[in-house]
Amino acid sequence: MDNLELLPLGKTIPVERGASLQDVLFVHGVEFPCGGRGRCKGCKIKVLAGSLPVTEQDRLRLSAAELAQGWRLACQARAQGDLKIELAQWEAAILADDSTFEFTPQPGLGIAVDLGTTTIVAQLLDLATGRVLAVRAELNAQAKHGADIMSRVEFSVAGRSQRVLETQARRQIGRLCRELLDAASSGAGPAPAGPSALSSGQVPETRRLNRVVLVGNTVMHHLFCGLDLEPLSHYPFEPGSPGLRVFQAEELGWLLPGNPPVHFLPCLGGFVGSDILAGLLATRLHEARLPAALVDLGTNAEIVVGNRQRLLCASTAAGPAFEGARISNGMRAATGAIFEVRLESGQLRCRVLGHGRARGICGSGLVDAVAAGLDLGSILASGRLAKSDSFPLTPPVSLTQQDIRELQLAKGAIAAGLRLLLDQWGIAPDQLDRIYVAGAFGNYINYTSARRIGLLKFPPDKVQPAGNAALLGAKLALFGAPQHNGAYPLLLAKIKHVALHEDPNFHEAFVEEMGFP
Ligand code: FES
Repeated sequence: MDNLELLPLGKTIPVERGASLQDVLFVHGVEFPCGGRGRCKGCKIKVLAGSLPVTEQDRLRLSAAELAQGWRLACQARAQGDLKIELAQWEAAILADDSTFEFTPQPGLGIAVDLGTTTIVAQLLDLATGRVLAVRAELNAQAKHGADIMSRVEFSVAGRSQRVLETQARRQIGRLCRELLDAASSGAGPAPAGPSALSSGQVPETRRLNRVVLVGNTVMHHLFCGLDLEPLSHYPFEPGSPGLRVFQAEELGWLLPGNPPVHFLPCLGGFVGSDILAGLLATRLHEARLPAALVDLGTNAEIVVGNRQRLLCASTAAGPAFEGARISNGMRAATGAIFEVRLESGQLRCRVLGHGRARGICGSGLVDAVAAGLDLGSILASGRLAKSDSFPLTPPVSLTQQDIRELQLAKGAIAAGLRLLLDQWGIAPDQLDRIYVAGAFGNYINYTSARRIGLLKFPPDKVQPAGNAALLGAKLALFGAPQHNGAYPLLLAKIKHVALHEDPNFHEAFVEEMGFP
């Protein structure tokens, strides 16, 4: 075992020699925006001690000066002896025009939380430098009461158990906040416990926790904030109280130094939550002159189309196929998952996470596999298997007719939603300046394959991975208090929520989009 020291976290991780740094760093909250294909430089690391050989992709993407300074692409690297590295993606530029993370420095600390249906990611930031001081990512403890938002709604409403989920969410995030502070202050002594610590003068201004900002979909927002989920359980599926919620940490049962305010950012309507509002802040789509789109590909896909003048948003139930659920050999993107399928000289080539034997297939592999099946003629445009009742990939993994049907349902719902929003906005798909794709799955799929199956029918060079745009937006919100300067009401006034289930054309569009191009 070798040791990998990770800055700016100051964390040391034991790694097996030869292990892929992508696999190692991914579980510690590091993002790989282009899915580790060596195309985006988003995973750039600087070697501070030890060495990493320069790879072919490093040479292609990094300048000679960067290479000489020790920069490498983490997604292309393998552990070789003890290493000390610094991550570029957790750095932030101060007031740099081209940065997606532009902020005005201020003393103190802030915690940004992306409360996802499946996972929770929380980061502690130094608001003077924008540096990430600590990160925590774990599965949402509510997941045992249902994998998707509708099963959480059902558990809460039919089972009259909303309080159970609220308590779980508040406890888990309170603990994560405490752990972040402890991790960051482990070198400087433990963070003072208790809400009175700041007022008693124990915390200098630079170490004061100014605020916590949370973002999440509408169901997560309502569950965390203790708002009645009942309106979301039936037609017209509109939230009762979608607005910004502000608590003091103590009200939530959190013993944090200084009893800081905790903001849950407002939702946009229906099932379009503050994760998408944060995505707008991160991509600055609401400031763009030319129309663009933001698509969060998940079980509940959320879509925004527009520019600085007006924006339309909607959500559509895509189902869990992209997460590997309801697929016969489906699994999450973990060791043993086929994550990439390519055609080379007419032969299928499958890449497996962890480079061992395939155990199943995850969402990105599924999209690739169906695209390859279409190119080979093994899958017809209708979705039917041409010759047999399965499409073998690599033993023991194959796709069944039902697997292809599940993918068609998911991609049909998203493509139809996008099509109707573009129609309502009054723009043709090829007039969009850019399409930002957010969400874990959205960052890992191959956009050429996504186009081949008709999921995102745009030239791949117009499609841009947005990383964890929800978390980035939450971080940006830490630097301002938008409810005081009126930024949220202004932004919200530009956005109209479209209830796709009320659109008479949705069903027809959905059926059409289920077919493959
Ligand atoms: S270059 Fe490594 S993730 Fe994109």
